[in-house]
Amino acid sequence: MAIKAVRGVRDILPSETGKWQRVEAAGRKTFEAYGYREIRLPLFERTELFARGIGGETDIVKKEMYTFDDRGGDSLTLRPEATAGLLRAYIEHGFQVEPKPVRLYTAGPMFRYERPQAGRYRQFHQANVEALGEVNPAVDAEVICMLMDFFFALGLGERLALHVNSIGDVGDRAGYIVRLVDYLRPHAAALCGECQARLGRNPLRVLDCKVPDCQPVVEKAPSILDSLSPEAAKHFESVRSYLDTMGQAYTVTPRLVRGLDYYVRTTFEVKTADLGAQDAVAGGGRYDGLIERLGGPADPGIGFAIGLERVVLLLGDAEAASRPFVLLIPLGDPALQRLMPVARAVRRGGVTAELGYGARKLPRELERANRLGVAYAVIAGENELAAGEAVLREMKTGEQRRVPIAALAAELCALSGRGVSPKSVSPEGVSPKGVSPKGVSPKGVSQ
Ligand code: HAM
Repeated sequence: MAIKAVRGVRDILPSETGKWQRVEAAGRKTFEAYGYREIRLPLFERTELFARGIGGETDIVKKEMYTFDDRGGDSLTLRPEATAGLLRAYIEHGFQVEPKPVRLYTAGPMFRYERPQAGRYRQFHQANVEALGEVNPAVDAEVICMLMDFFFALGLGERLALHVNSIGDVGDRAGYIVRLVDYLRPHAAALCGECQARLGRNPLRVLDCKVPDCQPVVEKAPSILDSLSPEAAKHFESVRSYLDTMGQAYTVTPRLVRGLDYYVRTTFEVKTADLGAQDAVAGGGRYDGLIERLGGPADPGIGFAIGLERVVLLLGDAEAASRPFVLLIPLGDPALQRLMPVARAVRRGGVTAELGYGARKLPRELERANRLGVAYAVIAGENELAAGEAVLREMKTGEQRRVPIAALAAELCALSGRGVSPKSVSPEGVSPKGVSPKGVSPKGVSQ
């Protein structure tokens, strides 16, 4: 029996990777425009880092971590999120001496033992951004705007809603939890089993429950915004006013609580109506105090993570899978010798070219051109070679014309819309002297 991939773990197939690359490029471009630098982090860390960082009472730490002892007896965990590891690196490498805020981003796979369903996986990918060492609420607004600019760059702005909230400082939250439990206890019987358990363990999570039965109770719960200290309330007011200044629309959602314990003050989530139950595409917030709890300086921080699978799902099938632009079809080995350097020159010009290897008959190669979906085919047999030419065929119309082989590379680049100078695409450009002169020399293709 063939071995299959582990449940909840997906291959990202060539038909999808074009979309992934577009999403990753949009992230890099947006984050770097705001001054963020990339940091690359290990996929596993000491288990204790996550227990201390994310919070021992969270679902992630209690039920979802892939934890194992290595051969030396150390308890290690595949990272369920990137923030804890990034802060560990920030402390370990002394980033705190750099001008504040220190702006870092990272991306890659995360691991959570969750029940797999559409948009929820056990290995999934995040792009993760953190601004460290700055308490000014303008940073909160800037980070949120950057997140929305990322979605805007992908043309997804219209399909997403930004929710913001403040969950106050640690003391505010403690006070709120008392009020919340006072309110929920008399309604406990109306809550789902999971929420009844949460009531004793982590009552804030009740606010996040999606079970329909719980909604009437949750909707009337007291608002956390009424429990904010004057400082936390002022911070949130400033964040909102800076968002207004930057023309960023948002909804204040007092029931927005996050699944990680490290947040204080500002929290936010980007949601979509297009992905069913897995409606959060990105989430984040402020976590002042966390760096200190992890053994570092008392630097504040704020950041977010984007769920890349969900972004790719939102992009849908609209994106055409990337296809080669041209198939070069040599008929026989002499023709192959002539077209190989042309293919290399075209590829150096940035245009995707496929090359036949001279052994198949023309009808089979044309069938392949159709299956590949190329815009053009170039055909060279004995007759064409004798004239130093090849046939250029537009696949959609079937129109054909002859082009000198020496001019082919530049012609194909021009047709593909690549503004490359003829020099950079001429076969000469790919014939470094002394390298296989027979195959790639200008003479070899221009006779
Ligand atoms: P999070 O809300 O746990 O936050 O995850 C962020 C995003 O990752 C979610 O909104 C979702 O799109 C995606 N995601 C989470 N779990 C899965 C899954 N099992 N399958 C697919 N996608 C998933 C964090 O991870 C925080 N570290 C964010 C942060 C950074 N806060 C401050 N800095």
